[in-house]
Amino acid sequence: MSNIAQPLIRLDAISKVFYTEEIETHALEGVHVDINKGEYVSISGPSGCGKSTLLAILGLLDTPTGGTYVLNGHKVHDLGATERTRIRNREIGFVFQAFNLIGDLTVFDNVELPLTYRGGDHVMSRTQRRERVLEVLEQVGMAHRLKHYPAQLSGGQQQRVAVARALVGKPSILLADEPTGNLDSRNGEAVISLLNDLHRAGSTICMVTHDARYAKFAQRCVFMFDGRVVDEETLERLREEEKEREAGQLVRLSA
Ligand SMILES: Nc1ncnc2c1ncn2[C@@H]1O[C@H](COP(=O)(O)OP(=O)(O)OP(=O)(O)O)[C@@H](O)[C@H]1O
Ligand SMILES: [Mg+2]
Repeated sequence: MSNIAQPLIRLDAISKVFYTEEIETHALEGVHVDINKGEYVSISGPSGCGKSTLLAILGLLDTPTGGTYVLNGHKVHDLGATERTRIRNREIGFVFQAFNLIGDLTVFDNVELPLTYRGGDHVMSRTQRRERVLEVLEQVGMAHRLKHYPAQLSGGQQQRVAVARALVGKPSILLADEPTGNLDSRNGEAVISLLNDLHRAGSTICMVTHDARYAKFAQRCVFMFDGRVVDEETLERLREEEKEREAGQLVRLSA
Protein backbone atom coordinates (compact mmCIF):
# COMPACT_ATOMS: atom_id res chain seq x y z
CA MET A 1 0.00 0.00 0.00
CA SER A 2 1.28 3.41 -0.86
CA ASN A 3 1.00 6.25 1.60
CA ILE A 4 1.23 8.95 -1.01
CA ALA A 5 -1.85 11.17 -0.72
CA GLN A 6 -3.96 11.11 -3.85
CA PRO A 7 -4.89 14.45 -5.39
CA LEU A 8 -8.59 15.37 -5.17
CA ILE A 9 -8.55 15.70 -8.95
CA ARG A 10 -6.29 14.04 -11.49
CA LEU A 11 -6.72 14.75 -15.19
CA ASP A 12 -4.41 12.74 -17.41
CA ALA A 13 -3.93 13.12 -21.18
CA ILE A 14 -7.36 14.74 -21.51
CA SER A 15 -8.45 15.61 -25.03
CA LYS A 16 -11.67 17.11 -26.32
CA VAL A 17 -12.70 17.24 -29.95
CA PHE A 18 -15.91 18.98 -31.03
CA TYR A 19 -17.38 17.65 -34.28
CA THR A 20 -19.57 20.11 -36.16
CA GLU A 21 -20.59 19.92 -39.83
CA GLU A 22 -17.41 18.19 -41.02
CA ILE A 23 -15.19 20.50 -38.94
CA GLU A 24 -13.20 19.04 -36.07
CA THR A 25 -12.18 21.46 -33.32
CA HIS A 26 -9.43 20.16 -31.06
CA ALA A 27 -10.32 22.17 -27.96
CA LEU A 28 -8.03 20.22 -25.57
CA GLU A 29 -4.99 18.05 -26.24
CA GLY A 30 -2.91 16.07 -23.73
CA VAL A 31 -4.01 18.07 -20.71
CA HIS A 32 -2.66 16.95 -17.35
CA VAL A 33 -3.83 18.77 -14.23
CA ASP A 34 -3.74 17.69 -10.57
CA ILE A 35 -5.62 19.62 -7.90
CA ASN A 36 -5.09 18.81 -4.22
CA LYS A 37 -7.66 19.18 -1.50
CA GLY A 38 -7.63 22.73 -0.13
CA GLU A 39 -5.79 24.21 -3.14
CA TYR A 40 -6.79 27.41 -4.95
CA VAL A 41 -5.90 27.14 -8.63
CA SER A 42 -6.46 29.70 -11.39
CA ILE A 43 -6.64 28.89 -15.10
CA SER A 44 -5.85 31.61 -17.61
CA GLY A 45 -4.94 31.97 -21.27
CA PRO A 46 -6.17 33.67 -24.46
CA SER A 47 -9.79 33.49 -25.63
CA GLY A 48 -10.61 30.17 -27.27
CA CYS A 49 -7.68 28.27 -25.69
CA GLY A 50 -10.00 25.76 -23.99
CA LYS A 51 -10.50 27.11 -20.44
CA SER A 52 -14.29 26.74 -20.32
CA THR A 53 -14.08 23.35 -22.03
CA LEU A 54 -11.65 22.19 -19.35
CA LEU A 55 -13.82 23.54 -16.54
CA ALA A 56 -16.94 21.87 -18.00
CA ILE A 57 -15.07 18.54 -17.99
CA LEU A 58 -13.84 19.13 -14.42
CA GLY A 59 -17.42 19.95 -13.40
CA LEU A 60 -18.85 16.81 -15.09
CA LEU A 61 -20.95 19.01 -17.37
CA ASP A 62 -19.18 17.47 -20.36
CA THR A 63 -17.11 14.35 -21.09
CA PRO A 64 -13.62 14.22 -22.58
CA THR A 65 -12.98 12.55 -25.96
CA GLY A 66 -9.89 10.84 -24.52
CA GLY A 67 -7.85 10.57 -21.33
CA THR A 68 -8.71 9.83 -17.72
CA TYR A 69 -10.32 11.88 -14.95
CA VAL A 70 -10.12 10.62 -11.38
CA LEU A 71 -12.19 12.54 -8.81
CA ASN A 72 -11.84 11.59 -5.13
CA GLY A 73 -10.33 8.24 -6.13
CA HIS A 74 -13.10 7.37 -8.62
CA LYS A 75 -12.79 7.26 -12.40
CA VAL A 76 -15.43 9.61 -13.75
CA HIS A 77 -14.44 10.20 -17.40
CA ASP A 78 -16.63 7.44 -18.83
CA LEU A 79 -19.74 7.63 -16.64
CA GLY A 80 -23.21 7.85 -18.16
CA ALA A 81 -25.27 11.03 -17.85
CA THR A 82 -27.35 9.92 -14.84
CA GLU A 83 -24.39 8.88 -12.73
CA ARG A 84 -22.50 12.03 -13.74
CA THR A 85 -25.40 14.22 -12.61
CA ARG A 86 -25.57 12.38 -9.29
CA ILE A 87 -21.84 12.88 -8.61
CA ARG A 88 -21.96 16.49 -9.83
CA ASN A 89 -24.76 17.31 -7.40
CA ARG A 90 -22.73 15.98 -4.48
CA GLU A 91 -19.14 16.88 -5.36
CA ILE A 92 -19.18 20.00 -7.57
CA GLY A 93 -20.18 23.61 -7.00
CA PHE A 94 -20.27 25.67 -10.21
CA VAL A 95 -20.28 29.46 -10.54
CA PHE A 96 -20.81 31.04 -13.98
CA GLN A 97 -19.98 34.45 -15.42
CA ALA A 98 -23.70 35.16 -15.98
CA PHE A 99 -24.75 34.15 -12.40
CA ASN A 100 -27.54 31.88 -13.82
CA LEU A 101 -29.90 32.43 -10.88
CA ILE A 102 -33.56 31.56 -11.45
CA GLY A 103 -35.45 34.83 -11.86
CA ASP A 104 -38.78 33.84 -10.32
CA LEU A 105 -37.26 32.24 -7.20
CA THR A 106 -36.19 34.24 -4.14
CA VAL A 107 -32.60 34.28 -2.89
CA PHE A 108 -33.51 31.64 -0.29
CA ASP A 109 -35.24 29.37 -2.83
CA ASN A 110 -32.40 29.68 -5.37
CA VAL A 111 -29.86 28.55 -2.78
CA GLU A 112 -32.10 25.77 -1.42
CA LEU A 113 -32.79 24.31 -4.88
CA PRO A 114 -29.71 22.00 -5.20
CA LEU A 115 -30.55 20.46 -1.80
CA THR A 116 -34.07 19.56 -2.95
CA TYR A 117 -32.63 17.41 -5.78
CA ARG A 118 -30.94 15.05 -3.36
CA GLY A 119 -31.97 11.41 -3.16
CA GLY A 120 -31.20 8.26 -1.17
CA ASP A 121 -29.13 8.71 1.99
CA HIS A 122 -28.53 12.37 1.21
CA VAL A 123 -32.12 13.63 1.51
CA MET A 124 -32.42 16.57 3.94
CA SER A 125 -35.47 17.61 5.92
CA ARG A 126 -37.00 21.06 5.44
CA THR A 127 -35.53 22.23 8.75
CA GLN A 128 -32.06 20.91 7.91
CA ARG A 129 -32.24 22.60 4.51
CA ARG A 130 -33.30 25.92 6.03
CA GLU A 131 -30.46 25.81 8.54
CA ARG A 132 -27.89 25.06 5.87
CA VAL A 133 -29.21 27.75 3.47
CA LEU A 134 -29.09 30.40 6.21
CA GLU A 135 -25.58 29.32 7.21
CA VAL A 136 -24.19 29.58 3.68
CA LEU A 137 -25.97 32.90 2.95
CA GLU A 138 -24.44 34.22 6.17
CA GLN A 139 -21.03 33.09 4.92
CA VAL A 140 -21.33 35.10 1.68
CA GLY A 141 -22.86 38.12 3.44
CA MET A 142 -26.32 37.83 1.86
CA ALA A 143 -28.48 36.63 4.78
CA HIS A 144 -30.22 40.03 4.85
CA ARG A 145 -31.76 39.51 1.40
CA LEU A 146 -33.57 36.16 1.76
CA LYS A 147 -36.83 37.28 0.15
CA HIS A 148 -35.37 39.37 -2.64
CA TYR A 149 -35.54 38.22 -6.25
CA PRO A 150 -32.35 38.20 -8.39
CA ALA A 151 -33.49 41.26 -10.40
CA GLN A 152 -33.67 43.24 -7.14
CA LEU A 153 -29.98 42.67 -6.38
CA SER A 154 -26.77 44.25 -7.68
CA GLY A 155 -24.53 42.14 -9.93
CA GLY A 156 -22.05 41.57 -7.10
CA GLN A 157 -24.85 40.48 -4.77
CA GLN A 158 -26.24 38.10 -7.41
CA GLN A 159 -22.83 36.51 -7.79
CA ARG A 160 -22.52 36.12 -4.01
CA VAL A 161 -25.89 34.31 -4.00
CA ALA A 162 -24.64 32.13 -6.90
CA VAL A 163 -21.54 31.28 -4.82
CA ALA A 164 -23.83 30.36 -1.90
CA ARG A 165 -25.88 28.11 -4.20
CA ALA A 166 -22.66 26.43 -5.39
CA LEU A 167 -21.49 25.86 -1.81
CA VAL A 168 -24.75 24.84 -0.15
CA GLY A 169 -24.23 21.11 -0.76
CA LYS A 170 -20.68 21.23 0.71
CA PRO A 171 -19.03 20.19 -2.58
CA SER A 172 -15.47 18.83 -2.79
CA ILE A 173 -14.54 21.64 -5.17
CA LEU A 174 -15.84 25.03 -6.24
CA LEU A 175 -15.40 25.71 -9.98
CA ALA A 176 -15.80 29.28 -11.21
CA ASP A 177 -15.74 30.32 -14.89
CA GLU A 178 -14.94 34.05 -15.14
CA PRO A 179 -16.92 34.82 -11.96
CA THR A 180 -16.02 38.52 -12.23
CA GLY A 181 -16.59 38.79 -16.00
CA ASN A 182 -19.95 40.59 -15.72
CA LEU A 183 -18.97 42.80 -12.76
CA ASP A 184 -17.43 46.25 -12.40
CA SER A 185 -14.10 46.31 -10.59
CA ARG A 186 -15.53 47.05 -7.14
CA ASN A 187 -17.98 44.13 -7.28
CA GLY A 188 -15.35 41.96 -8.99
CA GLU A 189 -12.93 42.58 -6.14
CA ALA A 190 -15.63 41.74 -3.58
CA VAL A 191 -16.25 38.37 -5.26
CA ILE A 192 -12.50 37.64 -5.43
CA SER A 193 -12.15 38.53 -1.77
CA LEU A 194 -15.05 36.16 -0.96
CA LEU A 195 -13.23 33.35 -2.83
CA ASN A 196 -10.06 34.13 -0.84
CA ASP A 197 -12.02 33.88 2.43
CA LEU A 198 -13.57 30.57 1.35
CA HIS A 199 -10.14 29.24 0.45
CA ARG A 200 -8.76 30.27 3.82
CA ALA A 201 -11.69 28.47 5.46
CA GLY A 202 -10.67 25.25 3.65
CA SER A 203 -12.53 25.23 0.30
CA THR A 204 -10.84 23.82 -2.81
CA ILE A 205 -11.27 26.28 -5.68
CA CYS A 206 -10.51 26.30 -9.40
CA MET A 207 -11.20 29.61 -11.14
CA VAL A 208 -10.94 30.57 -14.80
CA THR A 209 -10.08 34.24 -15.29
CA HIS A 210 -8.83 36.56 -18.02
CA ASP A 211 -7.67 38.99 -15.42
CA ALA A 212 -4.02 38.59 -14.41
CA ARG A 213 -4.63 40.64 -11.23
CA TYR A 214 -7.21 38.12 -10.04
CA ALA A 215 -5.29 35.04 -11.22
CA LYS A 216 -2.43 36.02 -8.90
CA PHE A 217 -4.64 35.59 -5.83
CA ALA A 218 -4.65 31.85 -6.44
CA GLN A 219 -1.98 29.65 -4.87
CA ARG A 220 -1.11 28.20 -8.25
CA CYS A 221 -1.68 29.50 -11.79
CA VAL A 222 -2.26 27.10 -14.69
CA PHE A 223 -1.66 28.70 -18.10
CA MET A 224 -3.21 27.42 -21.33
CA PHE A 225 -2.55 28.07 -24.98
CA ASP A 226 -4.32 26.45 -27.91
CA GLY A 227 -5.77 23.53 -25.96
CA ARG A 228 -2.64 22.71 -23.98
CA VAL A 229 -1.31 23.49 -20.52
CA VAL A 230 1.95 25.46 -20.80
CA ASP A 231 4.27 27.22 -18.37
CA GLU A 232 4.21 31.01 -18.05
CA GLU A 233 7.37 31.61 -20.13
CA THR A 234 6.08 29.39 -22.94
CA LEU A 235 2.77 31.27 -22.89
CA GLU A 236 4.59 34.62 -23.22
CA ARG A 237 6.73 33.28 -26.08
CA LEU A 238 3.75 31.80 -27.97
CA ARG A 239 1.82 35.06 -27.55
CA GLU A 240 4.76 37.05 -28.92
CA GLU A 241 5.09 34.67 -31.89
CA GLU A 242 1.37 34.99 -32.56
CA LYS A 243 1.60 38.80 -32.47
CA GLU A 244 4.54 38.74 -34.92
CA ARG A 245 2.66 36.42 -37.29
CA GLU A 246 -0.38 38.70 -37.18
CA ALA A 247 1.79 41.79 -37.79
CA GLY A 248 3.41 39.95 -40.75
CA GLN A 249 -0.01 39.20 -42.22
CA LEU A 250 -1.03 42.85 -41.90
CA VAL A 251 2.14 43.97 -43.71
CA ARG A 252 1.43 41.49 -46.54
CA LEU A 253 -2.20 42.61 -46.75
CA SER A 254 -1.28 46.27 -46.99
CA ALA A 255 1.53 45.66 -49.52
N1 LIG B 1 -19.89 23.12 -28.38
C1 LIG B 1 -18.85 23.41 -29.18
N2 LIG B 1 -18.84 23.03 -30.47
C2 LIG B 1 -17.80 23.30 -31.28
N3 LIG B 1 -16.68 23.95 -30.89
C3 LIG B 1 -16.63 24.36 -29.60
C4 LIG B 1 -17.71 24.13 -28.70
N4 LIG B 1 -17.37 24.66 -27.48
C5 LIG B 1 -16.15 25.21 -27.66
N5 LIG B 1 -15.69 25.04 -28.91
C6 LIG B 1 -14.40 25.47 -29.45
O1 LIG B 1 -13.39 24.98 -28.58
C7 LIG B 1 -12.36 25.96 -28.39
C8 LIG B 1 -12.21 26.25 -26.89
O2 LIG B 1 -13.38 26.94 -26.44
P1 LIG B 1 -13.56 27.44 -24.93
O3 LIG B 1 -14.93 27.93 -24.79
O4 LIG B 1 -13.12 26.35 -24.03
O5 LIG B 1 -12.49 28.63 -24.86
P2 LIG B 1 -12.16 29.64 -23.65
O6 LIG B 1 -10.70 29.50 -23.38
O7 LIG B 1 -13.09 29.42 -22.53
O8 LIG B 1 -12.42 31.07 -24.32
P3 LIG B 1 -12.98 32.44 -23.66
O9 LIG B 1 -11.84 33.02 -22.88
O10 LIG B 1 -13.31 33.27 -24.85
O11 LIG B 1 -14.16 32.10 -22.81
C9 LIG B 1 -12.76 27.17 -29.21
O12 LIG B 1 -12.06 27.12 -30.44
C10 LIG B 1 -14.24 26.99 -29.45
O13 LIG B 1 -14.63 27.55 -30.65
MG1 LIG C 1 -14.62 30.59 -21.62
